Amino acid sequence: MRLLILLLFSFQVSVSFKILIYNSKFGHSHSNFLGSVADILVDAGHNVTSLIPVIDAHGKDGTVKSNKIYVDLGEKIQKAHDDSIGEHKMFFYTPYFDPIGTYMGGQAMAEMFESACRETLKNDELIERLREEKYDVMMAESFDMCGMGLSHLIKPKSYIALLSMSVFGPLYDEFGVPPALSYQPSSYMLNFDPHSMIDRVKNIVSESLIRGFFSPGRSKLEGLFREKYGHEFPGFKKLSSNVAYVFANNEPLLDFGGPTMSRVIPIGGLGAKAPKKLDEYWEKVMTTRSKVVLISFGSIAPSESLADEKKEAILKTVAAYTSMTFIWKYENPDDQFAIAAKKVHPNLILSKWTPQNDLLNHPNMAAFISHGGMGSCMEVAQRAVPALFIPLFGDQPKNAWAMEYHGLGKVISKFDLPYADKLITNLREIIENKRYRENAKAISKKLTHKPFSSRELVIKYTEFAAEFGPSQALRPQSCDMSFIEYYNLDIIAVSVIITLFVVVFITHLVVMIFKRIFRKTSTKEKRS
Ligand SMILES: *[C@@H]1O[C@H](CO)[C@@H](O)[C@H](O)[C@H]1NC(C)=O
Repeated sequence: MRLLILLLFSFQVSVSFKILIYNSKFGHSHSNFLGSVADILVDAGHNVTSLIPVIDAHGKDGTVKSNKIYVDLGEKIQKAHDDSIGEHKMFFYTPYFDPIGTYMGGQAMAEMFESACRETLKNDELIERLREEKYDVMMAESFDMCGMGLSHLIKPKSYIALLSMSVFGPLYDEFGVPPALSYQPSSYMLNFDPHSMIDRVKNIVSESLIRGFFSPGRSKLEGLFREKYGHEFPGFKKLSSNVAYVFANNEPLLDFGGPTMSRVIPIGGLGAKAPKKLDEYWEKVMTTRSKVVLISFGSIAPSESLADEKKEAILKTVAAYTSMTFIWKYENPDDQFAIAAKKVHPNLILSKWTPQNDLLNHPNMAAFISHGGMGSCMEVAQRAVPALFIPLFGDQPKNAWAMEYHGLGKVISKFDLPYADKLITNLREIIENKRYRENAKAISKKLTHKPFSSRELVIKYTEFAAEFGPSQALRPQSCDMSFIEYYNLDIIAVSVIITLFVVVFITHLVVMIFKRIFRKTSTKEKRS
């Protein structure tokens, strides 16, 4: 009996670690991802605190279970954020490859993060308090770099870098992951053939644009930390090189094979929720006709701001399939366009909000027209619904291309949106060709049978980092190497010089020998 009690007791005692997650509220998908990590760690029994500098007061925290410390940043930063949101309709028409837009966007984002970070750093008392907490693990996304900078002041035992997407752009260098630009498509690529020279050139240009987008943010914030804490601030490259782990929000089974590192842990699909039963209203919507198509461009680019010709093309598609119901996530279902459209098209439902994941799980869901956000791509794969992707910006083109590459759907350019015939024929293809549904089902099955779930990976690796700190063995020495050493340029240079010497020497020798032979024969000739 006593033994039994002792056993029970020892099973219940598990170590609870103290974890701090820096989650600045600036974008829905970012907060959601960081919040999911926080809540999973709370469920695993840890004491998790989210440090939330409020860049956008209207956004969600993403976490419901962790302790929260809000940092009020004031009106000015909210305005900087809202100004950038006001222009989000531009995502429907800016080119995928847009050097000027990328540069300006990168600058605007850098300024927003810098002023937010400057406000946050004014809270000396808070920072001191957080240092005294002696956190086992601190986490922040390598996007708003203020969190990583703060980790230098707070000094947790381990730091884990989070990424709400896969490793890209400047992160390759920061974490020491070698990029494979000749065969791994970069974020802006809508399609990619590694055997095409033009595609490889485009891929390199795309990657350079992305690096350009992130570099102002990094240099501005690094400048801020140096200004406040002196030149001993190590810089983000150094800090990144010492992370214990990187948790990246990508799913290798939906990605392109390529080089990675043992400390980069892919935890895609983390925020995915188990589908729930639909309420009466949505159940009725789903069963009025035998097939349903869901249209959503995500939470950033508002459908209501689409140009009229594009809205008309979508309505023509709706009119071409009167036997199917179309649900369109539309922000303002009472505007003039919406009222007129609903009158003419009885098979169209316009809704400000939809239970997307639950709708995709319904057997009548025939296809999804999506912008290709990471979350939506995961839901498409998990719920096994064929999709037509119309990517808008960021990593959406590449996500969408990966889905087409794996046979889960098709991609069309956002510049084809005004052409209804393109929408109609591609939609017909993914609904009528059984191949898409079958592929989707096969991948969905693989995802549910993965050897380790993303949830398990997050918990185990966080606990390991909390217990043991960062491991030198996982840190590639390339982080300390110069460009010349890394690419063996010194060896190449020495080899070239030696080869040149040898060639010159041999040429010289051959010339000398020839001259001698020639001289001998010519003197012989003279004699004879
Ligand atoms: C979590 O940590 C905070 C800060 O150290 C502490 O005040 C709080 O009591 C802890 N909560 C639990 C449930 O241990």
